[in-house]
Amino acid sequence: MTSPQELKSRISEIYAQQLRDRDGCCDGAACCEGSGSEGIYPAELLERMPEGTVTFGCGSPVALASLRPGERVLDLGSGAGLDCLFAAQQVGAEGSVIGVDFTQDMIDRATRNAAKLGLTNVSFRLGDIEALPLENASVDAVISNCVVNLAPDKAAVFREAFRVLSPGGRLMVSDIVLTRPATEEEMADLALLAGCISGSLPVTEYLDQVRAAGFEEARLEVEHEAEADQFWFSAAISAVKPL
Ligand SMILES: C[S@@+](CC[C@H](N)C(=O)[O-])C[C@H]1O[C@@H](n2cnc3c(N)ncnc32)[C@H](O)[C@@H]1O
Repeated sequence: MTSPQELKSRISEIYAQQLRDRDGCCDGAACCEGSGSEGIYPAELLERMPEGTVTFGCGSPVALASLRPGERVLDLGSGAGLDCLFAAQQVGAEGSVIGVDFTQDMIDRATRNAAKLGLTNVSFRLGDIEALPLENASVDAVISNCVVNLAPDKAAVFREAFRVLSPGGRLMVSDIVLTRPATEEEMADLALLAGCISGSLPVTEYLDQVRAAGFEEARLEVEHEAEADQFWFSAAISAVKPL
């Protein structure tokens, strides 16, 4: 059986390779392919992004998080940084955005893209979202786009998100969730797992894990419906850290 650490290394290698294979936004096979990642960002926003911006997301957490100028934002599994770049523009010079990802190639690409846009309020840290390299109560909003499903220990991810949020802070995650539990065979299928599907959880279990970390007002809304032959769909999961 593959250990959680081995699994994470394989996932990181797969994403580093996918990044090398892709140069533009939403071009070609992606994580979450077929689950609605196509066309999730308005074309006019993407046009303003530098060449080499890539998304592997399945939703639009920045649009849903209603970020305000001056807020401090953390993006879990920031990839090549697209959501962080949008968020940095929304929170402005008084705010700040940190992206955390465990794939060095992603951190490098994201850092280059931020520099191309001249953004000084966004930075990227190499790290595991199950053990965040951030201090307690240091951000106002935690966003994430199609990443928590990949984490072997989702409870740790939500505990960490809760720890680094200030009281009253909010969680806004776009992710794949399941209409039924994945079978053992599906969970052992690395392509399906790294493709953001079989590592995820059914809706009730997903929300239970969010609440177990201490969050309140946990909600899940469909972002993109499942197609007839799919046991997964893309959802927006939101919750609040109590005051
Ligand atoms: C499907 S991609 C999404 C990337 C980005 N959020 C986007 O929307 O384009 C998943 C990303 O999560 C990162 N990742 C997966 N598991 C992680 C973990 N445990 N800690 C940190 N990063 C992780 C991968 O390196 C990859 O960049």
